Amino acid sequence: MSSRISSLFAQEILDSRGNPTVRVHLTLDSGDRVSASVPSGASTGENEAVELRDGDKSRYGGKGVRKAVANVDDIIAPRLIGLDPTKQAEIDALLLALDGTPNKAKLGANAILGVSMAVARAAALASKLPLYAYLGGPGATRLPVPMMNILNGGKHADNSVDFQEFMVMPIGAPTFAEALRYGAETFHALAKILAKQGYATSVGDEGGFAPNLKSNEEACEVIVKAIEAAGFKPGKDIAIALDPAASSFFTEKGTYNLAKSGQGAKSSDEMIALYGHWLDAYPIVSIEDGLDENDWAGFAKQTAVQGHRIQIVGDDIFVTNPVFVRRGIAAKAANAVLIKLNQIGTVSETIQTIGLCREAGWRYVISHRSGETEDTFMADFAVAMGGGQIKTGSASRSERIAKYNRLLEIENELGSAAVFRSSLPAPGAR
Ligand code: PGA
Ligand code: ZN
Repeated sequence: MSSRISSLFAQEILDSRGNPTVRVHLTLDSGDRVSASVPSGASTGENEAVELRDGDKSRYGGKGVRKAVANVDDIIAPRLIGLDPTKQAEIDALLLALDGTPNKAKLGANAILGVSMAVARAAALASKLPLYAYLGGPGATRLPVPMMNILNGGKHADNSVDFQEFMVMPIGAPTFAEALRYGAETFHALAKILAKQGYATSVGDEGGFAPNLKSNEEACEVIVKAIEAAGFKPGKDIAIALDPAASSFFTEKGTYNLAKSGQGAKSSDEMIALYGHWLDAYPIVSIEDGLDENDWAGFAKQTAVQGHRIQIVGDDIFVTNPVFVRRGIAAKAANAVLIKLNQIGTVSETIQTIGLCREAGWRYVISHRSGETEDTFMADFAVAMGGGQIKTGSASRSERIAKYNRLLEIENELGSAAVFRSSLPAPGAR
């Protein structure tokens, strides 16, 4: 007989920035208990599902999530008790119906996602399968290449770098464990290089360094040096991926203002030209949100001129939403999607978005948020979905490392069945 949900409740906990977030606890009638915690972004896309905050300034500056917690306890729980957790699609559809808004504004995407993730975890437990095997089936054997954000700027760091994320991707590593070592050793080499040049080695929200470099270019230069100092070949063993998060420096005047570095205002075309120079100068394989979330024409143009050389990832522009991804595919606005469960708010809709990527031959990258918890759901989810890429921060801060450690466990568990390979174009291709 299948297990049923016997109790469900939520709790307000803290994320890695010390802000409140939602944790959902679910018990099955077998007595098995699971929980799931919801992450939170800082450079959010304007069309993301609503993260419900209390707005009561007397607690956490208005960021409390007691309303979302109450929505789980009072509205969602009574409808889910007695249901079979393996009916993920039905339960997620019920959550959408209970909410009744197009953007989860009534119950909150934080309340809904916590429940949706807990249901998946409970179903895996009831099915006696690890989460990645439950969600991905017997074919879920591919470990993701990590995008490790070792240098932070933009909204994630108080420094002079406009672009939010400079990541290393160990594309030439033979296994996930080795990829993680390549990345961690590069991170340590970067610390030494920065310290030697008199820069700070304190870290930003995602665990990367946040030095006051003189320019955005200098970030790529020090990373290439770090890759070499760690004993690896830039572009062969380890490539670079960028997330400028350009919506965060796009201004009302319709220009991209590189204000933090003092490099001035640029048009969409000038930004694309700038990226073109960078592709010639540095071993870059992927650029995410190189342009503003509403600059669909710019995205399409960048994809037309650079999409054969690199992966062009849409994050804020698509917000993991099937509606925007469909539009993006029709407009050829990118060739990959950043997948964040909390941007859309249910496991089922996230899987639907990934289905669209697969049909279009687009890549997809499973991603954390800058505000995270110790929850490792996304590590299992990345293996389950088999896209071969994960973005979950630097080689520091336990909320980031928790995901990497879970992937190490999964690779170990899969043994000789584990697959690890990069499918990105080689850097420098024209
Ligand atoms: P966020 O940043 O979680 O603050 O949105 C991550 C990203 O932009 O990819
Ligand atoms: Zn992004």
